[in-house]
Amino acid sequence: MSVAILDYGSQYSQLIARRVRELQVYCELFPWDAPAADVLAAHPCGIILSGGPASVYEEVAPTLPGYVLNSDLPVLGICYGMQLLAHALGGKVSPSSQHEYGSAEIELVKKNDLIPEEIHSVWMSHGDRVEQMPAGFTLLATSPTCPVVAMGDAARRFYGIQFHPEVLHTPHGERILQNFLYRICDCQPSWTAQSIITDAVERIREQVGRRRVLSAVSGGVDSSVATALVHQALGDQLEAVFVDTGLLRQGERESVQAALAPILGTHLHVVDASDTFLSALQDVSDPEEKRTIIGTTFIRVFEQQARRLGDLPFLVQGTIYPDVVESRAPERSHAQRIKSHHNVGGLPERMDFKIVEPLRYLFKDEVRAVGEALGLPAELIWRQPFPGPGLAVRCLGAITPERLAKLRAADAIFQQALREAGMIDRRTKEGETPIAQAFAALLPVRSVGVMGDQRTYQETIVLRAVTSQDFMTADWAHLPHDLLAAVSNRIVNEVQGVNRVVYDITSKPPATIEWE
Ligand code: XMP
Repeated sequence: MSVAILDYGSQYSQLIARRVRELQVYCELFPWDAPAADVLAAHPCGIILSGGPASVYEEVAPTLPGYVLNSDLPVLGICYGMQLLAHALGGKVSPSSQHEYGSAEIELVKKNDLIPEEIHSVWMSHGDRVEQMPAGFTLLATSPTCPVVAMGDAARRFYGIQFHPEVLHTPHGERILQNFLYRICDCQPSWTAQSIITDAVERIREQVGRRRVLSAVSGGVDSSVATALVHQALGDQLEAVFVDTGLLRQGERESVQAALAPILGTHLHVVDASDTFLSALQDVSDPEEKRTIIGTTFIRVFEQQARRLGDLPFLVQGTIYPDVVESRAPERSHAQRIKSHHNVGGLPERMDFKIVEPLRYLFKDEVRAVGEALGLPAELIWRQPFPGPGLAVRCLGAITPERLAKLRAADAIFQQALREAGMIDRRTKEGETPIAQAFAALLPVRSVGVMGDQRTYQETIVLRAVTSQDFMTADWAHLPHDLLAAVSNRIVNEVQGVNRVVYDITSKPPATIEWE
């Protein structure tokens, strides 16, 4: 049982999909012009048309494919989706130079299956509006600035709403989507962590059969959950490799081992390659050079392990649904090469693996729910991301064991203070802007200080904490001064060779989150 969402380019398209999934109905996002056969392949029980930036009168405007109206399925058009529906069925959409953006008070004209009770406030973001409804439609809601806020044709089960039910600013938005799914499309709430697992296990078994699978775990949420899922499906056919690059945070290797060993047992292989990495990085301080060396060293180490473990034709990848959706619409993904991102756990291109992607259809919150259901510890599931090149990009200048030790100790003090204050590594509430990432970096800058009666001339630790939704942009976090003071005190007192602590107050852009 599923719903198809046709994406007309709204910034909220993925959010619609997440909301539908939260209502326990499986859905898939398709580009609006995807072939009908692809959209109908999963036998959807309804179609949602997303919003989008176009105007139905533009010459190259995205259109409503014929099968949408002919397939006898319920349709919900949101914003541009409603205008398309009106336009295609003979109504009138009028362009408007005035944009309506923000909360709007609306009036319910007729109670109906989609909006059975007064809802008052909704979130609008549109230019054009429906001036005249197509034949067969009834006016459901209106507002002083927008004559047709909601319209419906109950017989054909076609509905249109000008506002956005998927955003939190529409207080009853979830209820409206729920009504569309349960009352109008007749869906059942069947998409749960357990059903996702059952589904994924079946798919993995079908793809892999009795052959063996290799997985690279980084300790991050996605690779851990993907590995645990494959293990659930295949048991002893899986071998997982965790490479200790020598560039991990304090206690990281142990915590990854503690989280995964109970699940994977002797099939978890922890490889200490720190000497290999550190000698490859000797005397290197250029950021891009560091990344390249780490990337190639990782592949080399990984290949050695793959050979050692024998014939493993499949490789697990932790690709998640937003990656799949974004890569289909490259013009909308913000992929810009500011830094070469080498994801530890990334695919060695020269190796001849078939790929298993058990999270390919899941959003991050679903990945987390599955991880919990599979028994992975909460610290791992709610953990902040850590870059593939690890501490190398936080240890500016030369990478030596001594400098890494300083950095690790300072970072651990910062992490501990934030964790004790409940600011990181925890489940976040909807609408909250939590700290997305926090860390220490070591600068190759020495400054003069005084400790006791002694002059010091030592290096600097910079603390960085940011809030961010998507890591494409970020704001520096306004941490409490008392917390910063306590962390600074502890670092200069406890970490040898550091006599100054500063706090980074730049956002991204113009800075980036990591220092290199
Ligand atoms: P920047 O520094 O570009 O970071 O603002 C954005 C996000 O990406 C992470 N990051 C990386 N992740 N390999 C990764 O897997 C990398 O090479 C890498 N560089 C940055 C960074 O930690 C932040 O979450």
